[in-house]
Amino acid sequence: MTHRFLWGAATAAHQVEGNNVASDYWRDELRENGIFTEPSGDACDFYHRYAEDIATLAALGLDSFRFSVEWARIEPAAGRWSHAALDHYARVTEACLAHGVTPVVTLHHFTVPAWFADRGGWDAPEAAERFATYAGRVVARIGDMVEWLCTLNEVNLGSLFEVLGEVTERAAARRGDFRTATGRTAEALLAAHAAARGAIRAERPHAHVGLTLALPDFQAVADGEPRMAAAREVAQDRFLVAARQDDFVGVQTYTRERFGPKGPLGPPEGAALTQMGWELYPEALGAACRHAQEISGRPILVTENGIAASDDAQRVGYIDRALRSLGAAMREGVDVRGYLHWSLLDNFEWHYGYAPTFGLIAVDRRSFARTIKPSARHLGAVAQSHREGDYSLLPISS
Ligand code: BGC
Repeated sequence: MTHRFLWGAATAAHQVEGNNVASDYWRDELRENGIFTEPSGDACDFYHRYAEDIATLAALGLDSFRFSVEWARIEPAAGRWSHAALDHYARVTEACLAHGVTPVVTLHHFTVPAWFADRGGWDAPEAAERFATYAGRVVARIGDMVEWLCTLNEVNLGSLFEVLGEVTERAAARRGDFRTATGRTAEALLAAHAAARGAIRAERPHAHVGLTLALPDFQAVADGEPRMAAAREVAQDRFLVAARQDDFVGVQTYTRERFGPKGPLGPPEGAALTQMGWELYPEALGAACRHAQEISGRPILVTENGIAASDDAQRVGYIDRALRSLGAAMREGVDVRGYLHWSLLDNFEWHYGYAPTFGLIAVDRRSFARTIKPSARHLGAVAQSHREGDYSLLPISS
């Protein structure tokens, strides 16, 4: 059976919408001497400018868009539901459909309502049920328009930090604030995922439901195989096993992590690094998808892949190399349903603030004016020439 391959870009509510005032992050960003370089503030004002951005994405030749709905807006106080917020996300979804863009909707992308955090967050006994109730509300409102739903973003992130712990500073500086996803709470997050999946399926039996995972390509160097295998079990495989119950796995890959006999090694001497300090290694994508499918047995949707770079030509090169590795995996039989680039817009990169630029489109911090980068046109052109399940056409010719 052939499927239409999704070509698109991804965002997350808190990173682009602006003024997410009822969320835990908003409050923590404003704390004196906190870990954030700057607060999210207006972000990209995507809350008001979504129509323009979705139109641009479609005009570039992309046909799918991953965005997240914000729990803190939809349930700003426990049990108080904002119909206006739900209506807003219905309009965002409708804007996608009006442009022939397939929406891929994430229900939780790191932020939670401040009240939820205050009640113990994911470790609270009622967490899974509360999240499932929220998921049910969202799906009741927009579910008939949405085929692809991600429950939680990168539930394995805390476990990933744990196994990279020996390069602690780098791990801590790696991706945002991972309070909501520490290894300790991994089981709670998986329980919330399962509960939400149940709520979604009750409402929309035919939707594709999955979670997303941070999946760097783990590689063993010299006698590093036992350490790599142990790390893979903790940070990847137990989550991929849980995903066997899902309809797909959302793979999010940026780089590789190498392991020697004593543990993680960090980037090789002299390796090119991105603005995040991660090794520039786009070939991680194909390998990560291969592994994700091998363990989960589920179809793969690449829900994030990208590079923080000020030089947009680096992004173009990164996209080509990542897609070549993806194409090679697909020709070996890995069932990949789409590629969603992170990110549509330069946005709020968690505690790094606005310095790292992952976007296909630049955003002026004061006027919010958008500037399309060459990489956006490049990805659009690739999408245009690889339509309708032409898996065999990947890797692209350059
Ligand atoms: C997250 C995004 C983040 C990106 C780059 C992923 O871990 O889902 O929110 O911006 O990586 O760090």
